[in-house]
Amino acid sequence: MSLEAEPGSLRCFFAVWPDAAARERIAAAAAGVEGGEGARLVPAENYHLTLAFVGEIAAAQLGGLRQIGRELRAPGFTLAFDAYEYWPKPEVVVAAAREIPSALSGLWQQLHRDLKGAGLALAPKRLRPHVTLARKVTQAPVWPAMSLFEWSARDFSLVRSDSAAAGSVYTVVDTWPLLDE
Ligand code: 2AM
Repeated sequence: MSLEAEPGSLRCFFAVWPDAAARERIAAAAAGVEGGEGARLVPAENYHLTLAFVGEIAAAQLGGLRQIGRELRAPGFTLAFDAYEYWPKPEVVVAAAREIPSALSGLWQQLHRDLKGAGLALAPKRLRPHVTLARKVTQAPVWPAMSLFEWSARDFSLVRSDSAAAGSVYTVVDTWPLLDE
């Protein structure tokens, strides 16, 4: 069955999905993190850099999201992840890139503009490039200094999120290239 034919709603977001090499670098950084009692480390296959959270959409709207991804032209970028951060409200530990390349802010602005234009309402949110490493972290953990790692984004994806007992299951719906840096 195609995704478009599926009834009901879908939870979607745009993200950069790591290739195997980037996933390994993220996993190495995550190895220094212990979230404490009740925390859940994000499985390596779920690592991603969220570009735009869309949320619940009707299955019929998926085509519009794909069109946005297909028509977007933006250069790739390299991020230097240089810090662990604990965000108490969402109860997560993330690897954060404190310096934001202009190509990433351009892509982020364009995506949000296009989503708004398509009537897909989004709460405006500051761009904070990060990869979530652990969830359900209720207290700021103690962690070692992070050894910086880089991740070059060459493409971006539309991703579907489904809830399962063991946590979220992500499925890449479509991927589009970014232009040479
Ligand atoms: P994050 O882990 O990169 O912070 C898929 O659900 C992804 O979308 C999550 O991994 C989370 O990204 C982001 N997300 C989930 N709910 C969100 C919300 N209400 N607002 C913004 N981003 C959200």
